[in-house]
Amino acid sequence: MPEDVVTMDKIVALCKRRGFIFPSSEIYGGIGSTYDYGHYGVLLKTAVKNAWWNAMLGRDDIVALDSALLQHPRVWEASGQLAGVTDPLVDCRTCKARFRADHLGELACPRKPSKHPGEGPECDLTPARDFNLMFETTVGPVKESGSAAYLRPETAQGIFINFKNVLQFSRKKPPFGIAQVGKSFRNEITPGNFIFRTREFEQMEMEFFVPPAEAPEWYEHWKQARLAWYEELGLRPDHLRLREHDADELSHYSSGTADVEYLFPIGWSELEGIANRGDFDLKAHAAGSGKPIEVVEQDGTRYVPYVIEPAAGVGRSVLAFLADAYDEEDLDGETRTVLKLHPRLAPVKVAVLPLVKKDGQPELAAELHTALKRRMQAEYDEGGSIGKRYRRQDEIGTPWCVTIDHQSLEDRTVTIRDRDTLAQERVPIDDVPDLLSARLAASWTSPKAGA
Ligand code: GAP
Repeated sequence: MPEDVVTMDKIVALCKRRGFIFPSSEIYGGIGSTYDYGHYGVLLKTAVKNAWWNAMLGRDDIVALDSALLQHPRVWEASGQLAGVTDPLVDCRTCKARFRADHLGELACPRKPSKHPGEGPECDLTPARDFNLMFETTVGPVKESGSAAYLRPETAQGIFINFKNVLQFSRKKPPFGIAQVGKSFRNEITPGNFIFRTREFEQMEMEFFVPPAEAPEWYEHWKQARLAWYEELGLRPDHLRLREHDADELSHYSSGTADVEYLFPIGWSELEGIANRGDFDLKAHAAGSGKPIEVVEQDGTRYVPYVIEPAAGVGRSVLAFLADAYDEEDLDGETRTVLKLHPRLAPVKVAVLPLVKKDGQPELAAELHTALKRRMQAEYDEGGSIGKRYRRQDEIGTPWCVTIDHQSLEDRTVTIRDRDTLAQERVPIDDVPDLLSARLAASWTSPKAGA
C-alpha cells in the first residue's frame, strides 16, 4: 500500500483553517473533546447524513423516525443501560488519573517518562470499578427524587419503544426497518482522537425487524450493504474491512456483531457496528412496560421479531471521509493540499470564478452562479489571484471550478477545472448546469485508490 501523507494533526489543522470543525467553547479555554462544526463542516456532515437517508429511504421497506432525546428513565432500566452500559475503570492513587481497565495497554500514564498505566514504578492502580456512561439530568425545575432523566446514549431505544406505533401506522410487516439520525451522549472516559470519540455525537441507526428464522440471512445482507455504502461514497476498498466480533467482545444484547472498520491514521478502528440483537430489546420493553410487543400474522400466529441493527456514527464517518480524501501534491514547486472527496459529499460542488473583477466578467459569473445554485451548493469568489482561489477550493474539496475569462464574454464559453486531474475543458456556459448535474449523479472512484 503506498505511503499515505495524512495524519490526524493535518486533518485537525485543515478543519480549523478552512472552517470545518473547531474545538468548542474555545474562547473559554475549551471543553475537552467537544467540537463545533462550521459552515463547511455542516455541509459535509449534512451530505453524509443525506447519503445515509437516501440509502435507507431509497428502499420500500424502511421508514423514518425522530424520537425524543429525553425518554422515560424506565427505558434505560429495561434496556439494561442503566446497569449495563458501563466501562470498568481504574484510578491511579498516585497521579489521580482514571483509565479504562480494558484499554490500559493503549493508554499513557500522564507522568514522565511516559509508560502505560500500572507500568511506572510509582503507579498505584485501584481495582476496576464499573461506571455509568449516561449523562444524568433533571426533569422539571426542582431536583427531587423521581425527577432524574438521562440523555440517550444511543438512538436505538427510541426506535424499539415506538415499534408498536410504527407497526400500526406505517402498515408495515417484518421484514421492515425503522431509521433514525440524531444526537447521543456518553460520558466517555477516554474520549479523543479529534471527532473519533466524543461525549456528544450523532448516530445514524436503523433497526431492521425480521421473522426470527430470517435473522441470519438479513445479518449477512446488512453487513455487505453497509460496507458497500462506504465504498460507493469513495472510501478506498483497501482501507475498509469487516471484522466479526469474538464471543467475548459481544454486547449484552448481541448474538453476533461485525464492525465495518476503516484504516484511520490511528490504525484500524470501528466505523460502524452491525449487530444481530435478537429479540432482546422488544422483549425487554414488553417486560418493562407490561405491554406485549409482538407481530400477529393473519392466521393468528404471534411472534417477537428479531432485530438486525446497522449503527453508524456521523462524526466518525466524517473523519473517515476526510482522512481518505486528504492528499498533498507537488504543483509547480509548491505543495497543493486537496480533499479528494466524492463530489456528492463535497461541501461545495462548484465554485464560479471570474478571472478579473472587471470587463463584465463578474456579471456573467453571477449569472452562472445563480443558475447553478438552483441545482447544487455553489460558491462565487472574485477575491485574490486565480491560483489562490483554486487552492482554497482544493482544500475544501470542491470538485469543479468554473472560470469566466475574456473569451467567455465573446463566445459564452467557460473553462471547467477538475479538482483531481487538474484538466481544464472549455464548454458553453449554458451547458454547465446540466453537465455538472450529470457528473454529480455518476459513480466515482477515489483517485487515491491504487495511486
Ligand atoms: N445502538 C448500538 C450502538 O450504539 P455502538 O457501537 O456503541 O452501538 C454505534 O455505536 C456507532 O456510533 C459506532 O460505530 C460509532 O461510529 C458511533 N459512536 C459510538 N460512540 C461514539 C463516541 N463516543 N463518539 C463518536 N462516535 C461514537
